[in-house]
Amino acid sequence: MIADILVTGAHGQLGWEVARRGAGLSLHALGHGDLDITDRLAVMQTIARLKPKIVINAAAYTAVDRAENDADAAYAVNRDGPAHLAAACAEVGIPLIHISTDYVFDGSKSGAYKEDDPVAPLGIYGKSKLAGEEAVREHLAHHVILRTAWVYGIHGHNFVKTMLRVGAERDTLRVVDDQRGCPTFAGDLADATLAIARQMINGTMRDECFGTFHCTGSGATSWYGFARKIFELAKPSLQKVPTIEAITTAEYPTPAKRPANSVLDCHRLEQAYGIRLRSWEAALAEMLNTVLVDMGETARP
Ligand SMILES: NC(=O)c1ccc[n+]([C@@H]2O[C@H](COP(=O)([O-])OP(=O)(O)OC[C@H]3O[C@@H](n4cnc5c(N)ncnc54)[C@H](OP(=O)(O)O)[C@@H]3O)[C@@H](O)[C@H]2O)c1
Repeated sequence: MIADILVTGAHGQLGWEVARRGAGLSLHALGHGDLDITDRLAVMQTIARLKPKIVINAAAYTAVDRAENDADAAYAVNRDGPAHLAAACAEVGIPLIHISTDYVFDGSKSGAYKEDDPVAPLGIYGKSKLAGEEAVREHLAHHVILRTAWVYGIHGHNFVKTMLRVGAERDTLRVVDDQRGCPTFAGDLADATLAIARQMINGTMRDECFGTFHCTGSGATSWYGFARKIFELAKPSLQKVPTIEAITTAEYPTPAKRPANSVLDCHRLEQAYGIRLRSWEAALAEMLNTVLVDMGETARP
């Protein structure tokens, strides 16, 4: 029963990649149905029973717009869940890797956000994730909080798959061009998370390896730029490619306000761990190769 790693939210975009990429590590991959992180007792009992050497929390309430009218549920998963996990890890003396978000910032900075820049989330999702970060820091010294952004994976729902789906149905797609961020492939984020986990397990962590780090794909773009690149790369496999039209955030109102600048500076992670994710375009090309084959009906024979 003893394993190196316990990963929560194992059926989400990131959790799924962590579970399939942990070669050489023994891993308990628990989906929502296996462990509800809002259940304090279940969290305590599961960690005590499975005795992992570290915990990776990939579980979260990620429906950014729905959270605006569902704050209790968002806070239960994004604040209380990490609090229970951190307290349980402290109880048995193991570290926690917790995943957080660019949405802890308000997006008003002109350059890339560093870890210690002031936080000021704009919506319930960001506020609940920030509360989760604070709970982890409060309960457990030996933590790594990885803030990431614009995550897309082979498994699960995301912007890339939505673009491909609606692009097959419509001639024109209108996409927001005044929000900038760093698209992050869930597979690359999982590899980074597992590299940190390996150092934790090997006991080679220096003090500066704990704390809060930014971890996104390298480079930055807007949602419009992201959409253009998706269709540029996928074009040879598609029967039809839509026209992509740039619009402003004001032209596409959503219940939750989003930061205009989501770009994260990831140098601290590189300095502490030597980890730097490849360019977002290179990762996107790899992801599309897999997804387009799986979506056989849109790929050319
Ligand atoms: N997606 C993004 O663009 C993005 C951007 C920045 C940061 N992040 C952060 O990155 C991390 C991974 O995100 P992701 O994209 O992989 O999210 P995801 O695909 O939505 O996966 C989250 C998983 O958590 C599970 N979950 C929800 N409530 C739970 C609970 N109470 N107990 C246990 N599991 C629960 C969900 O299961 P059900 O579906 O069954 O509820 C789902 O499988 C999260 O911390 C997220 O906040 C994501």
